[in-house]
Amino acid sequence: RIVYLNGEYMPEEEAKISIFDRGFVMGDAVYEVTSVLGGKILEFEGHMTRLERSMRELEMTCALTREEWLAIHHELVARNNIDEGLVYLQVSRGNAGDRDFHYPPEGTPPTVVLYTQAKPNLANDPKAEVGIKVISLPDLRWHRRDIKTVQLLYPSMAKMAAEAAGKNDAWFVEDGAVTEGSSNNVYIVKGNKIITRQLSTDILHGITRASLLTYAAEAQMEIEERPFTIAEAQEADEAFFTSASAFVMPVVEVDGVAVADGKVGRVAKRLREIYLEESL
Ligand code: PDD
Repeated sequence: RIVYLNGEYMPEEEAKISIFDRGFVMGDAVYEVTSVLGGKILEFEGHMTRLERSMRELEMTCALTREEWLAIHHELVARNNIDEGLVYLQVSRGNAGDRDFHYPPEGTPPTVVLYTQAKPNLANDPKAEVGIKVISLPDLRWHRRDIKTVQLLYPSMAKMAAEAAGKNDAWFVEDGAVTEGSSNNVYIVKGNKIITRQLSTDILHGITRASLLTYAAEAQMEIEERPFTIAEAQEADEAFFTSASAFVMPVVEVDGVAVADGKVGRVAKRLREIYLEESL
């Protein structure tokens, strides 16, 4: 695989960074995951706007322009022959010096890494046909979940716990309400109404979420942005989640309780179709 590191393309074996890099030592890095379908990069502007915001919130600077980011995405997709897959992008604060809690001096170059991951069944994911099962866990992450940092230890622990319980993923709960999934935004459906938590620093502002809500409104579906509980999800007509790598994914079981008849719902199925049609 050919990857990008700090201005250069190289085989992945040659891509090396410092052991003092703050992304490695402090989790001081932000990232984006963008999907590729039919060789096309989806939601590029949305991901770049969020990347810029994440960096701004952390006072991180990176000199690359949107045109340059886009050129790197295209180059990697072409060089690695990606038809369906993902582009992973990470910017860390860099650091040439020793380990130090303080940020390095202004002008210290960030570490910029991009690479592709081929995923031949991204759009035709068999899991979307049967839906996935989730467990709930307390949301023990920090309180700036709107910043897309690489501090992903708790989401990793959550996915391992879900797997150990024989399920697919975890939904996080705080103050009695669901915040989001371990790596996705979550929704329930009641009648013709789609309910999803409103944007705040409690959740990541999903790029897929933003587009999906626009498409749902265009399809005359009603949207209510508010927190909901696990009990509400268990009593809902449908549940699903969204993310750049899963698009719209039906959820058919929450904490061992089937959602409605435990089958993929009509609304989630339709929204997945609409999202994929609009993206291509
Ligand atoms: N995760 N919430 C969290 C905590 C996430 O990590 C993600 C994305 C989302 C959905 O955001 P978007 O629609 O912009 O992908 C919500 C990515 C895919 C990941 O970490 O792999």
